[in-house]
Amino acid sequence: MKRLVSGIQPTGQLTLGNYIGAIKQFVALQNELEETEFFIFIADLHAITTPQDKTTLRKAIKGVAALYVACGLDPEKVNLFIQSEIPEHANLGYIMESTAYVGEMERMTQYKDKRLKQSDGIRTSLLTYPTLMAADILLYDADIVPIGDDQKQHLELTRNLAERFNHLYGNTFVVPEGFYPKTGARIKSLVDPTKKMSKSDDNQKAYILLLDEINVIKNKIKSAVTDSDRTIRYDVKEKAGISNLLTIYASLTDQSIKSIVKQYEGKSYAEFKADLADIVADTIEPIQKRYQALIHDPVLDDILDKGRQRASEIARKKMVKVYKRVGLGRIKS
Ligand code: AMP
Ligand code: TRP
Repeated sequence: MKRLVSGIQPTGQLTLGNYIGAIKQFVALQNELEETEFFIFIADLHAITTPQDKTTLRKAIKGVAALYVACGLDPEKVNLFIQSEIPEHANLGYIMESTAYVGEMERMTQYKDKRLKQSDGIRTSLLTYPTLMAADILLYDADIVPIGDDQKQHLELTRNLAERFNHLYGNTFVVPEGFYPKTGARIKSLVDPTKKMSKSDDNQKAYILLLDEINVIKNKIKSAVTDSDRTIRYDVKEKAGISNLLTIYASLTDQSIKSIVKQYEGKSYAEFKADLADIVADTIEPIQKRYQALIHDPVLDDILDKGRQRASEIARKKMVKVYKRVGLGRIKS
């Protein structure tokens, strides 16, 4: 049986970028892949690499769990759990810190970007974050890790760490493969289409939240920045705005960009945006309905308990093996 692992941080609310780049793939893979066990978690330990308000964080953790299910993850097929409820993530994270080099951490572009945005009080965990991510993956011997483009470098590092550890201590970890969506691996900001759509953007018009009001969502699409030319065509360099909207359209309708471009030949940006606004709204509205029904339902706790139990079983066994390989503690006689 193969294993698939992925997670999302409960910082802020989830965006359309998270949906297209990550959750939509989880749902598709859950229905396509056979003989694969799924571990999808809420990466709350990752959230505290930057300051969080504790009430907001607690709410966000449950919120991500409810959204996972509302977006179509089937708790019968997928182990859904909260990262911090499995202490082995942090344990193995430390072992990974003791496998990785400081230079490797300092080279991570996400770290460099985030460090620039903060002047002081940069937490040590922001630097070591990729070692925890590696632990999240290697703990379960994941074969496949579906993620957006922005996580590619972290996944490469994870592969290097697995190989280094295996070489140092003997074969212990599966070296995982990343899985990136064909379209939509990097959804861009609606205000500045050269940047990624991020929930931590200062401008709310830059992103669509899965829990934004439907009217707000439609308006954000309609007012998305595009160029002054009038033809709808895919050209990331010259027409980044319209190309981003084409990507969203293609991803949500499972059509090729080429066929959409053909469909809109001679039509205006306004028409295209109005149609896309409806498509996005029609995707998100049912998710919101299911979310509202779930968020206060105790069944959510049952789902997270069940996921924790299964994840914990595997994680505990794996850590015993890792400690043994490294020579930590005592061997039970
Ligand atoms: P995060 O919100 O940073 O925890 O990201 C969770 C998942 O969503 C990761 O797999 C990211 O690669 C993916 N993701 C986040 N933002 C985007 C985006 N703008 N486009 C595509 N994927 C994204
Ligand atoms: N670092 C990822 C992000 O910010 C979230 C994450 C944490 C993750 N651990 C993971 C994704 C393990 C895949 C596998 O997007």
